[in-house]
Amino acid sequence: MARSALLNVMVQAAMKAGRSLSRDFGEVQNLQVSLKGPGDYVSQADRKAEEIIHSELLRARPTYDFLGEEGGETKGTDGAHRWIVDPLDGTTNFLHGIPFFAVSIALERNGEIVGAVIFNPAMDELFTAERGGGAFLNDRRLRVAARKKLSDSVVATGIPHLGRGHHGKFLVELRNVMGEVAGVRRTGSAALDLAYTAAGRFDAYWEKNIAAWDIAAGMLLVREAGGYVTDLEGGNRMFESGTVLAGNEYIHKALKDVVHRPAPAIGG
Ligand code: IPD
Ligand code: CA
Ligand code: CA
Ligand code: CA
Repeated sequence: MARSALLNVMVQAAMKAGRSLSRDFGEVQNLQVSLKGPGDYVSQADRKAEEIIHSELLRARPTYDFLGEEGGETKGTDGAHRWIVDPLDGTTNFLHGIPFFAVSIALERNGEIVGAVIFNPAMDELFTAERGGGAFLNDRRLRVAARKKLSDSVVATGIPHLGRGHHGKFLVELRNVMGEVAGVRRTGSAALDLAYTAAGRFDAYWEKNIAAWDIAAGMLLVREAGGYVTDLEGGNRMFESGTVLAGNEYIHKALKDVVHRPAPAIGG
């Protein structure tokens, strides 16, 4: 697997931030934590990781735009490129001592994602993709799962918390999906949900109320692993709508139909 120089810069930035997160994870009880909104935490670990990534990426390409979850957007002079970064995806897991979180870095060129790195430091799993070059877990090429039947599938989602999203509507979707699949999982990291879909560990994944930094890198991983990624309506407006649906061609379609099915009768 030959990585471009730019992907190597992204990998180095993700691994450096990952080492910082691992150190902070070992002392998680001493971290300063604040609330950004109901149920939405941010810690020194998130901020430190974003600073590391920001300085590594901008050192290599000072003219690119940078969008990070914690620092917001800064404009460069380049006009074509933008880094999209979630320094710590899975903050709630992290702060609860659950070793399931990741750094997510995507490179966008003229509105299209062309490079992706997702790194889970606790499991030492590095997911990478470049447009047209395939998706990889460490050195192994990835392929989405081949399952064709929803009834054999394990599907991941994100459960809205504390006033985020429309809980009633989500419960209808979840009930519909639960009735059709072999299992539903909620991991707490959208980036890893997509990386696991690319790796064929999950057959599909859907979520609403999601931001560009949660999904930008994972979207390319799934596509480069041969999968489909759309918004919940089947279109290409993932960032604008804040919704995402990913899977192989069969399960993607089947899940979309089930998610949109009207509520079953009470007791059904
Ligand atoms: C969150 C995680 C989670 C998803 C939330 C995201 P954060 O990101 O990706 O799985 O359900 O919608 O906000 O805040 O831990 O970076
Ligand atoms: Ca967050
Ligand atoms: Ca996130
Ligand atoms: Ca985050």
